[in-house]
Order: sequence, then structure tokens, then C-alpha cells
Amino acid sequence: MKLLKLGILASGRGSNFQAIWNSIQAGKLHAQVQVVISNNADAGALDFARSQNLPAVHLERNQFDTKEAYVQAFLGILEQYAVNFIVLAGYMKLLSPEIVRVFRNRIINIHPALLPSFGGKGMYGHFVHKAVLDHGCKVSGVTVHLVNEAYDQGPIVAQQCVPVLAGDTPESLAERVLKVEHVIFSAALQLFAEERVEVIGRSTLIK
Ligand code: GAR
Repeated sequence: MKLLKLGILASGRGSNFQAIWNSIQAGKLHAQVQVVISNNADAGALDFARSQNLPAVHLERNQFDTKEAYVQAFLGILEQYAVNFIVLAGYMKLLSPEIVRVFRNRIINIHPALLPSFGGKGMYGHFVHKAVLDHGCKVSGVTVHLVNEAYDQGPIVAQQCVPVLAGDTPESLAERVLKVEHVIFSAALQLFAEERVEVIGRSTLIK
């Protein structure tokens, strides 16, 4: 089994990060958290990281004069903390292509719907669930996928359906979906620790 040395990237409250953390503590996920990075100085994910004495870094484009300097700093932090796998746990920024290239097939994202529906730029959090309800969908779900250069388009690793119920609001649907996210994300990561994910073109084969 391979020890995943995680770089967690999160923009918000970080409940998915906490679920991953809990799975590691419970011995269900063969991984350790090397560093937590957020583009948002006030992210709950950074607070939680600090509460666990984990390195927590606020990093965003406007701290740097050029995009190149920003990307180099980003890569430098990942290297400094010996990250070998990146987890986008509610990270609302597109990763720069340089980072995708260096960590090819070693970056996963969680999306709160069944891709390829309801993905792409601007489709995050509340907007996803609102769009699902606006379309009158009877099911939604969760997708865990590898990250490539385009928003939400990398090979899918795991998916699970979640029912849409009569009277759902974006908030009630988000809550039901989030419960599944908290289970499926760690399980999908563990597949990488067990080296069971093979990438074949646009898809994955789980061995
Ligand atoms: C989660 O629902 C996650 O799927 C979603 O943001 C939320 C983050 O919650 N991600 C996206 O929409 C990415 N396109 P968290 O901060 O509590 O983990």
C-alpha cells in the first residue's frame, strides 16, 4: 500500500477535509495530511488545520505580482511539505495547468452532482444544487474525479446517486448530498492508496 501524503486545497468550511481527517484517524485511509492550502484567509478549513497543528497556508494569486511567481510559490509549498497527492476539498479555483502537469493523475476533486451534468465554471456549491432543482431532476449525486486542465472534466473515479425529494431546497439537497460526500471521498482516496486506480484514456478502471 502507498502512503498518500496529502496536500488539501479548500476554499470554505472544510467539512470534506474534516471527514478525510477523521477517516485517517480511524485508520480507514492510509494517508497523512502534509499541508492545507486555501485561497481564502478566513476558510474554516485553515482554522481546523491549525486546531490539529497542521501546516495551514493562505495562498492566492493577488499576493504575487505575476502568475508565474504565484504558480512557483504554489509548487514550492507542495514540494516543501513533500506532498505526493492533491485533494481539492471544496476548492473553488481552477488549478493552474503547471500544477496539473506536475501532479498528473494525482489530483482529485469532489463535485456535488453527477458529472458531466451540472459541472464547469461557475458550477459550485449552492449553484449546482439550484441548477439541479431548476431542471426538475429526480436524482442528483456525488462525483469524485481526477483533475485535468478543464473544470470538472477529468476521469471519473467514483459516483453515487442521491435522491431529490419533493419540496427540496438547494440547502436541503446540499445537506443530503454532503453526507454522501463525506463517505465517498475517503473511500475513493483509499483506492489510490491501494493503487487500484488505472487511468485509461478518459476513464478509470478500478482494479
Ligand atoms: C462540497 O459540497 C463540495 O462538493 C463542493 O463544495 C462543497 C465544499 O464543502 N465543491 C464544489 O462545488 C466544487 N465544484 P466543504 O468546504 O464543507 O467541504
